[in-house]
Amino acid sequence: MSSTAQIGVTGLAVMGSNLARNFARNGFTVAVHNRTAAKTRALVEEFGHEGDFVAAESAKEFVDALERPRRLIVMVKAGEPTDAVIREFAPLLEPGDVVIDGGNAHFEDTRRRERELRERGIHFVGVGISGGEEGALLGPSIMPGGSPESYDALGPMLERIAAKAADGTPCTSHVGPDGAGHFVKMVHNGIEYADMQLIAEAYHLLREVAGYSPARIAETFREWNRGRLDSYLIEITAEVLAHVDAATGKPFVDVVADAAEQKGTGRWTVQTAMDLGVPVSGIAEAVFARAVSGHAGLRAASRGLAGPSAQPLEGGAADAFAAKVEQALYASKIVSYTQGFHQIRAGSEEYGWGIDLGAVASLWRGGCIIRAAFLDRIRAAYDARPDLPGLLADAGFAQEIGAAQDDWRAVVAAAVAGGIPVPAFAASLAYYDALRAERLPAALTQGQRDFFGAHTYRRTDREGSFHTLWSGDRTETTA
Ligand code: 6PG
Repeated sequence: MSSTAQIGVTGLAVMGSNLARNFARNGFTVAVHNRTAAKTRALVEEFGHEGDFVAAESAKEFVDALERPRRLIVMVKAGEPTDAVIREFAPLLEPGDVVIDGGNAHFEDTRRRERELRERGIHFVGVGISGGEEGALLGPSIMPGGSPESYDALGPMLERIAAKAADGTPCTSHVGPDGAGHFVKMVHNGIEYADMQLIAEAYHLLREVAGYSPARIAETFREWNRGRLDSYLIEITAEVLAHVDAATGKPFVDVVADAAEQKGTGRWTVQTAMDLGVPVSGIAEAVFARAVSGHAGLRAASRGLAGPSAQPLEGGAADAFAAKVEQALYASKIVSYTQGFHQIRAGSEEYGWGIDLGAVASLWRGGCIIRAAFLDRIRAAYDARPDLPGLLADAGFAQEIGAAQDDWRAVVAAAVAGGIPVPAFAASLAYYDALRAERLPAALTQGQRDFFGAHTYRRTDREGSFHTLWSGDRTETTA
């Protein structure tokens, strides 16, 4: 077989085959391979007319079909299946070849694989790909890590198949070395969880406090989508809420079991944030909210607990409340992104990745699940000031969140009074208030730690570490 394919995709489940088709539709010759060859044949039979495919039955045939340096994308399940494919292909490759993992891998696995393959002269590129099945086919947001040389070999092709932002910029760029791409994709998913939870809380409040029907809420979200909340997730929320179940004639949202599942990337975001010491409380509450929803037995046993139920508002009062919910949603969303970008900065510092936060905001502007109009403004904020200590230090975002905070508080207060759980709204507001506090009770925490464990404390008026002799004469010593 002659080496004619510019890129190869192995693993032809929906994401893999859609990505292969995207390359082919953009004029690249694509070698395709799957563990079971029937899938490879089916892809070429069904979609062969879309472009140039080279169907390879064996790993050897697949590798031989690729131009050098070879670029081969692995689209199999994260974890052991990815390692198994790498073990199978690595001996067939040569120095300079590029192995690309397009799955949702954990960035630590990506760092390990990159290191192992680098020893053999092979580039390993962990690529975060967002946009679901449709994005893979029509243009995803692509977050490649790996060496700069590997981006030279791969970047122009990714730029061709990626989504384009409204200004025409491709939604991809080199994020940073080794695991940087998968790290950024992981935080993307954490923000995705938070965005979804915030929207769910807004829905819950509109339903229970404003007394709106799902159809009316769909209309409200459609309206919000024409403003500053303009985003893919708000858009699809309106569609989900407007959908009526054919079997029962009931709103679809009322016939779906209320237990949210997860594949785990949101959880990784929180676990990693814990290790880095970054407060991602809004994202964490979103992960925990899914967990709470899934504990059916515990919920059933607790349903009779005392507490208020919301009394739906009517007419103008309901509409005025809905307008406040929009403010609360927008303010909380700013907090989620503030926390997510903080985590990316911390990861970048910890691992020496040199990630450009403005560029990350830029490549999330199209194709991905969290694409939103306001990412343009986040990009502008970081481009103007790459050392911005946090998103809330940007004058524009500070002004907006300041203008929203009265309504945000009113919404959280109404939720608490009505017994509606709003963990992400409330955690985001608490984060905002913690950041703006002149003094935090952390001083007391330090005193307690010193009391029971002689853990020492620092003082506001002098340099150094101190310990108080709590069980003696309570004099202060320099630690
Ligand atoms: C994307 C999505 C995707 C993700 C799931 C979310 O960016 O296209 O984030 O990569 O894996 O759609 O999964 P769970 O909600 O099941 O965790």
